[in-house]
Parts: sequence; structure tokens; C-alpha cells
Amino acid sequence: MKKTLAKICFVLVAAFMLAAPQGAQAKKLSGDLEIFSWWAGDEGPALQALIDIYKQKHPDVNVINATVTGGSGVNARAVLKTRMLGGEPPDSFQVHAGQELIGTWVEADRMEDLTFLFKEQGWMDVFPEGLIKLIGTDKGIWSVPVNVHRSNVLWYVPANLKKWGVDVPKNWEEFIKIAPKLKKEGVVPLALAQNWTANHLWESVALASLGPDNWDALWNGTLRFDSEEGVKAWELFGKVLEYTNPDASSLSWQQATDMVIDGRAAFNVMGDWAAGYMATTKKMEPGKDFGWAASPGTNGEFLFLADSFGLPKGAPHRDNAIAWLKVLGSKEGSDTFNPLKGSISARTDSDLSKYNAYLQSASADFGKDRVVGSLAHGVAANETFMSGFASVMEMFLKTNNAKAAAMACQQLADKAGLGK
Ligand code: GAL
Repeated sequence: MKKTLAKICFVLVAAFMLAAPQGAQAKKLSGDLEIFSWWAGDEGPALQALIDIYKQKHPDVNVINATVTGGSGVNARAVLKTRMLGGEPPDSFQVHAGQELIGTWVEADRMEDLTFLFKEQGWMDVFPEGLIKLIGTDKGIWSVPVNVHRSNVLWYVPANLKKWGVDVPKNWEEFIKIAPKLKKEGVVPLALAQNWTANHLWESVALASLGPDNWDALWNGTLRFDSEEGVKAWELFGKVLEYTNPDASSLSWQQATDMVIDGRAAFNVMGDWAAGYMATTKKMEPGKDFGWAASPGTNGEFLFLADSFGLPKGAPHRDNAIAWLKVLGSKEGSDTFNPLKGSISARTDSDLSKYNAYLQSASADFGKDRVVGSLAHGVAANETFMSGFASVMEMFLKTNNAKAAAMACQQLADKAGLGK
């Protein structure tokens, strides 16, 4: 009897040992994986590092890195729309956390619920609750966040400011005081690029003018755009625009950053992908070769956005896409991608020693600042509002009419159902 029992035990243990490695082994994947984003050219290295990790894990998968150039996804979103509506979704695509994701593709029932993946990978505990809320609805979780970017950052080169004898402005009044001095030196006070970067600058200026409570109130529908506060924000924006370069509309965001690097401009307000560009592409040292501060009047506030990737319904290579999402959400993926990208990890357990001085300071600010959502990068408002806002901006750039812009925004907010 004892012998039989021992035999049974031995057989069971042997069977378990044989089965375990097979069970633990990931399914061997092959075929294509098409990922779609706007991280082309100078924006590419961080994405490439993720693809490299994926290729190590799944060498037989052919990764198609489909990118459409154009900062902030201005062109990519249009191409994506055509593909999604035409029934040709990529396997996974970049989308901003917030209304850009929820108000567009989730509302249209085009995304798969990823709750199963979040549970399986233990992500419910490593992504902040607030972020999970932003990418979720009562019906599911709809994308995997890869980063946290800050929109309201003022960039400069410390040695140049010293040469011109100007300090970093703490608010727009200070900026408006020092700007004429810079102009006299033949320096553009504030570098600006194509129209979406005007939207980007607007949100920093409006946040400074309104303050964070009123900023939030605009998006939840409790403060009207055509209120006195709303009009004032556009007026201040108009004043700030006077100190930008006239050729802005023909420049990419990188070219506006280049103006600061080359000493043709003193400052630029841009998201911290500019830190990624300066540190990763231009090999500049944060704190020495380039400096940063919260955009004027927004110290203590973190205008936030996050890039994420989702799984569209009908993705042609679903298993490969799920394996891709696993890499994106992993600690390894996150701590490889973000130091190159100029963003901080969306996970709460990131290894900060891998991040440069700028990113460490951004991470500290994210922990203590008042966090508010970006309009220009998909958090605050849905696509109807965002695309309409681009037209309002075009009109404002031509007319400089603050009241008309504020009223047009209110009409848009009504049409887009903001805060409803
Ligand atoms: C943002 C995006 C960033 C960066 C930037 C410039 O919308 O979230 O990751 O790519 O555009 O293109």
C-alpha cells in the first residue's frame, strides 16, 4: 500500500514537473503585428525600444510600424478614422487617454474591453486609480497607458538667458515685460510652430489666466466659455501671441524647439516630449544644456496627458496585439520607453534611477501638484469639440478677436455636449 502511494505521488510530481514548463511557456506567436501611431522620425526612438523588447520575446512576429507624421496626431487621427470606418483597423493604435479615446472609439463600440488583461497582469494595482478611471467606463477598460506627459512646460537654454540678461518669467506679466528687451536683441521671445502648437500654448495660457478650478469648470460645463473669465483667457493669449515668430504655421514642433536650442528664440511652451527630443535626439543634458519651468503662471499645476494603445474590435492579429499590450504595460517596457520619450511612467512602481534630472523633477511634481487634464492632447474634451476648437483657433490667429473666439467656443461646447 505504502509503495503504491509512493508510486502515485511520484507519478503525480513527475506529471506536474513535465506540465509546468509547458503551461508557463508563452504561446509561440507568428504572423504580422501592425501598430499605428504618429511617433515617426525624431519621435521614433522610444517606440523602437518597445518594438525591440517585443521582438526579443516574439522573434517570429513581423512588426509593421505604421506611422503617420504630424505632431500630436493631427494627421494620424484622420488616417485612423478612415481605416476604422472602412473596417480595416490596425492591430493596435495610439490614442490619448481621456475623451479622445472614450468619446470617439469607445462610444462607437469599436474597442475591446481590456479588463481581463488588467486583472491577469496585476495592473489594477500598479496604475493609479485616477488614470484607470480616465481610460475606463462602467462597461470596461479600453486601453493600456504607456506614459504620463506634462503639457505646461517652458523650455529655455540657461546660458542664453544669462547672455541676454533675462530671468525665467514666473507669470505672463513678467514675460510681457522682458519680451521687448529680447526683441531688441533680435531674439524671438516665444517660439511657436504649426496650428496645433497654438492650441497647446492656449491651454497653458488659459490655465494661468483661469486657475485650475475654473479650468476644470470649463470642461464639466459649470463655467461658460463666453463668461468674463473665458474672454480674459483669450485676451491674454492674444497678447502673448504678439511675441511669437511670424512663420510659426510652417514649422514643426521640433523646429520651434530648435529655435530655442540655436538661440534664435528665448522660450518655447511645449509638452515634455521636447525634453525627450533634446535629451535623446540632440544629446543635451537636462539642467545644463536646457532648462525648464512650469509655463508662466502655472507653478504647482500639472497639465496632464497620457498616450495609450488599445485593441480595436476585429484586429487582424489579435493574439499578437495582446502580447504587444502586455509589453507596453510591463515595468520593463515602461522603464525602457519613458526615459527616451521624455515622459514619466504611468505605473506607480517605476525605477526612477533610470530617469534623467528633468524626468525626476516631473515625477516629483506629478506627485504633489494639482493635476488637470489637457485639451490639446485629448483628455478634457471629445473630438467634436477638439476639431471645432482647431477652427476657432485658425479664426483667432487671423482676427485676434477674443470675444468672438470665446463665443464660438461656447457654441462648440453646447454642440459637443461638454459636461453632459
Ligand atoms: C502628443 C503625444 C506625445 C507627443 C506629442 C508630439 O499628443 O501625446 O506623445 O507625441 O504629441 O507629437
